[in-house]
Amino acid sequence: MGKTISCSVLLSLISSFYLLFATALDTITPSKSIKDPEFIISQNGIFRLGFFSLANSSNRYVGILYHQIPVQTVVWVANRNKPLKDSSGILNISDDGNLIVLNGKTEILWSSNVTNTAPNATTAQLSNLGNLVLSNGDDAGSSLWESFQHPCNVFLQTMKIGVDIKTGRKVELKSWKSMDDPSDGNFSLGFEPFNIPELVIRKDNQLYFRTGPWNGNIFIGIIYMYTVNFDGFDVVADNPQQPYYITYEYSNDFRLIYYELDTQGKFIERRWDAEKGNWINRYPSHETDCDVYGICGAFGICDSSKRPICSCLKGFKPRNAEEWSRGNWSSGCFRNTPLQCQRDNNNGSGAGQGDDEFLEMQMMKVPTFPYRSSIVNGDCKNECMKNCSCVAYAYDDGIGCMLWSGDLIDVKKLSSLGVDLYIRLSSSELDKGKSRKVIVITTVIAGIVVITISAVLFLWCRMAKHKGRNKKQKQVKHQICSENIGENSIGVKLQQLPIFNFEELATATNNFNHAEKLGQGGFGQVYRATLDGGKEIAVKRLSKSSVQGLEEFMNEMVVISKLQHRNLVRLLGCCVEGEEKMLAYEYMPNKSLDAFLFGMEIVEGRRYSWHSRQSDFRVRNIFKE
Ligand SMILES: *[C@@H]1O[C@H](CO)[C@@H](O)[C@H](O)[C@H]1NC(C)=O
Ligand SMILES: *[C@@H]1O[C@H](CO)[C@@H](O)[C@H](O)[C@H]1NC(C)=O
Ligand SMILES: *[C@@H]1O[C@H](CO)[C@@H](O)[C@H](O)[C@H]1NC(C)=O
Ligand SMILES: *[C@@H]1O[C@H](CO)[C@@H](O)[C@H](O)[C@H]1NC(C)=O
Ligand SMILES: *[C@@H]1O[C@H](CO)[C@@H](O)[C@H](O)[C@H]1NC(C)=O
Ligand SMILES: *[C@@H]1O[C@H](CO)[C@@H](O)[C@H](O)[C@H]1NC(C)=O
Ligand SMILES: *[C@@H]1O[C@H](CO)[C@@H](O)[C@H](O)[C@H]1NC(C)=O
Ligand SMILES: *[C@@H]1O[C@H](CO)[C@@H](O)[C@H](O)[C@H]1NC(C)=O
Repeated sequence: MGKTISCSVLLSLISSFYLLFATALDTITPSKSIKDPEFIISQNGIFRLGFFSLANSSNRYVGILYHQIPVQTVVWVANRNKPLKDSSGILNISDDGNLIVLNGKTEILWSSNVTNTAPNATTAQLSNLGNLVLSNGDDAGSSLWESFQHPCNVFLQTMKIGVDIKTGRKVELKSWKSMDDPSDGNFSLGFEPFNIPELVIRKDNQLYFRTGPWNGNIFIGIIYMYTVNFDGFDVVADNPQQPYYITYEYSNDFRLIYYELDTQGKFIERRWDAEKGNWINRYPSHETDCDVYGICGAFGICDSSKRPICSCLKGFKPRNAEEWSRGNWSSGCFRNTPLQCQRDNNNGSGAGQGDDEFLEMQMMKVPTFPYRSSIVNGDCKNECMKNCSCVAYAYDDGIGCMLWSGDLIDVKKLSSLGVDLYIRLSSSELDKGKSRKVIVITTVIAGIVVITISAVLFLWCRMAKHKGRNKKQKQVKHQICSENIGENSIGVKLQQLPIFNFEELATATNNFNHAEKLGQGGFGQVYRATLDGGKEIAVKRLSKSSVQGLEEFMNEMVVISKLQHRNLVRLLGCCVEGEEKMLAYEYMPNKSLDAFLFGMEIVEGRRYSWHSRQSDFRVRNIFKE
């Protein structure tokens, strides 16, 4: 009894103390410095700024860390290149209004190094997003310096990687040297001033990895981005004259996810798993050896499913056969037969379209340095054919025509998705076979039909659920998806996509039998299901405890329906009954299904704004009414 009382007294004391000082807890001022081991905490309690050491090292650093997480997680380091050798450090605002790290001998180890015209009014505040902001109340509240503009190896949400508009300085991630040494490592991640924005990782200032061009939604060279993991990512320029930057922001509440450039030059997504009590890593970059920039040299193509991974593009052969056979592909390949337009001696322009043709290569990561054609709705092939220096072209809806001249470098065969790349070859190199066009056109039309149907189904499901909410629970339980079929003109189209009911799927999965389970994610499980006729499908059953609400579920459907692609699993239908939310997919017992379905698990409860921003708004608007 006595213990209880003293405990609650203590608690109330602590909380009143907290309230008393709460306003100042996240701020350093000229009169309030912090000494090792003190720290300040962001208002939401997520981040702290203070002193820390790393495992196997007695060096002390000043930095920003996740505050509540039991595993030490550093997101920014001030004195990364000049550690404190003991615990006599001070973080202080100096007389000239800079944030400085001093050691016991009052030597300055690190400084924000800005010109401050009102040093007395200077404050350094740790924001809820983990940004340390130095300001002096001048300039209508704009900051003098921000840690977000001087990142280390971590990309936090709302950070802008690219160029600091105010100073024109590059804002890049820089890897740590090693796990226990945060000083500058060999790798950096930032934007390249290519014609089309593209993120790159450099190793000792040489290109080491590239994402492929940004098409307004995703980087087209990363399969990982085709799943919905990159929710909230955007590449923007604040106005047309300014350079691009990349940023991300989750629309809902705060989420424990961040991105890091690790000591090996890999870009990692890290997500906190509360159950495991640790961070779960995913690797959007460097999934395979093929992700090393230009590994197969000029006109080489990398395919990680083959051994050796490098080969020459069709119509090309190794420049140095001996080196090539030893697995040194760096000198690349050259043309077997010169292009017809070159032989016609046209000096690279004009007429003489001669007998060149284009070889279609599907599911490709396009080469580096594309040139974006200004023609709108153009015929890329014709555009490329007109100019003898044009050696390849590709088309993406979000980008338009991409053309290449010179060497084709960093061409990669993707395991799914990607774009179709067309390589210019002398016709003598090409086997004739022209029935492809018909197939492509048919596929495109079929794709459009499926997308339309799925989108309509999605909207309608959403509407049905909405209606259902106003009814009694009993009624809601009853077959929301199919309940209203035929009620309006939409229903007719919907009937073309099967609507599953709960019992049907329960039977098909042997009552969601463990043995039928294909996998499990945070959001729920995926089962193999065998329908009455013996047809196999995959069923994703969202767990009831999942935070993913109906809105997110519906958003997912929109995304998936937009993602319909000849190389991807097809969405067959949905089922929403009471608490149950399920999606039915085509079953493909190979990797692309796994990658697709389990790639999704991470998005639990997030909004898929990167790929469906517009439809999102539409959906929202409809249901706000
Ligand atoms: C610290 O040293 C131990 C033993 O040498 C090693 O196993 C561990 O990985 C090191 N930790 C870090 C973070 O480098
Ligand atoms: C902050 O650092 C300056 C030296 O630049 C020192 O004179 C001053 O006393 C320090 N302030 C505090 C509160 O430690
Ligand atoms: C501070 O900035 C000046 C000029 O902006 C630069 O020359 C100097 O090297 C910087 N010092 C530090 C410690 O970063
Ligand atoms: C800033 O502080 C110094 C010393 O505390 C004082 O002499 C000076 O007048 C102050 N300046 C302003 C603009 O308040
Ligand atoms: C970084 O570069 C240095 C020198 O260039 C080299 O010794 C070291 O092995 C490199 N580290 C990594 C991880 O590549
Ligand atoms: C590969 O070939 C290039 C060009 O001939 C040469 O410079 C390089 O040293 C070779 N690399 C290896 C690992 O043999
Ligand atoms: C272009 O044509 C001129 C004369 O017609 C010739 O001298 C030159 O070598 C040609 N250049 C190429 C690259 O073929
Ligand atoms: C052909 O393409 C090259 C490279 O893109 C370009 O520099 C050149 O101006 C083009 N020539 C014509 C006639 O369009």
